[in-house]
Amino acid sequence: MDVARDDKPGVHGYMPNAGILEVRDEVAKYLTEINWDELNSFFYNNHVIMTVGAAGGLNCVLKSILDPSDEVLVIAPYFMEYSYYVDNHSGVVRVVEADEDFRPRAESINVAINKKTKALLINSPNNPTGVVYSKEELNTIGDVLSQASLKYKRDIVLISDEPYKKIVFKGKKAPSVFASYPNTIVVTSFSKDLSIPGERLGYVAINPKMVEAEDLSTAVTLSNRILGSVNAPALIQRVVQRLLHDQADLNIYEERSIFLADALIKRGYELKEPEGSFYLFPKSPIPDDLVFTSLLREENILAVPGEGFGRKGYFRLSLCLDKKMIEKSLDGFSRALEKSRHLFSEETQ
Ligand SMILES: Cc1ncc(COP(=O)(O)O)c(C=O)c1O
Repeated sequence: MDVARDDKPGVHGYMPNAGILEVRDEVAKYLTEINWDELNSFFYNNHVIMTVGAAGGLNCVLKSILDPSDEVLVIAPYFMEYSYYVDNHSGVVRVVEADEDFRPRAESINVAINKKTKALLINSPNNPTGVVYSKEELNTIGDVLSQASLKYKRDIVLISDEPYKKIVFKGKKAPSVFASYPNTIVVTSFSKDLSIPGERLGYVAINPKMVEAEDLSTAVTLSNRILGSVNAPALIQRVVQRLLHDQADLNIYEERSIFLADALIKRGYELKEPEGSFYLFPKSPIPDDLVFTSLLREENILAVPGEGFGRKGYFRLSLCLDKKMIEKSLDGFSRALEKSRHLFSEETQ
């Protein structure tokens, strides 16, 4: 309310394209605090660019770093919009498969890197799998990228898309990626942890240890401007300035996630319990996840086929519904499973 009532001249005006200076100062202070133990470096306001959500931030970063036909590695299953974002900036996505537990495989990343590789784009806590990368996994990724950068004489960038960073279960925390590799850019938003996706606010944070941090900051700022956002929305910047340490009630997501995962397993579904984010990614009981999600739709259950995330044979459920609604859906899950078994046995006869 204070922010809305503020009638000082200029509060709704244009601002530096990177965002309101005091807000970026606050974000830089916050990043210094949470990363200090591992990184031992100060973030300053020039390391922070306020963006129109994580989606806007990713586009600014890709616009800044990609030359035509540069490759960006993504680890499947992955958020499908990445393909479009990379394509927006004339890049090419190269998909690297995660292992059967959806964990990153250093060897596969290494094999996929070539002289055109410009960036590896990771997402932990992950949409759609709920996997949270460990410190060891991030360090291994950092080592792979350091060696490949030397080999190809090219600074490969690690882009860490972290809108679910604060949504981690069992009282754990998602480890910071900055100390694992100097050439790191974090892209995040307040869409998920404050549950305000419609307000369209996020930011890009550049590792102070990156050699070209200053140039990159200028490029991302210019991209914010010329991609058409000009700057992130003013009012909500001033609001989140006061909420950097806050988050929506995690217990709600955790409770729903445990409840639905247990209920589905009891009913005969196979799935890995998520460590964070707010999705479940169960195995489709039949190989064709498109057919299976259509059976779920007949039960009024909306699920996204795994194919949409680059991993066939799975489907994604979102936990952004109240528990009563989830409870009501359980019989529908059982019926869809039953129908799929009939269908599959008919097809294989
Ligand atoms: C992995 C991932 N990255 C980026 C985004 C975009 O987030 P925002 O709404 O902050 O632009 C989403 C939104 O669902 C997402 O799941």
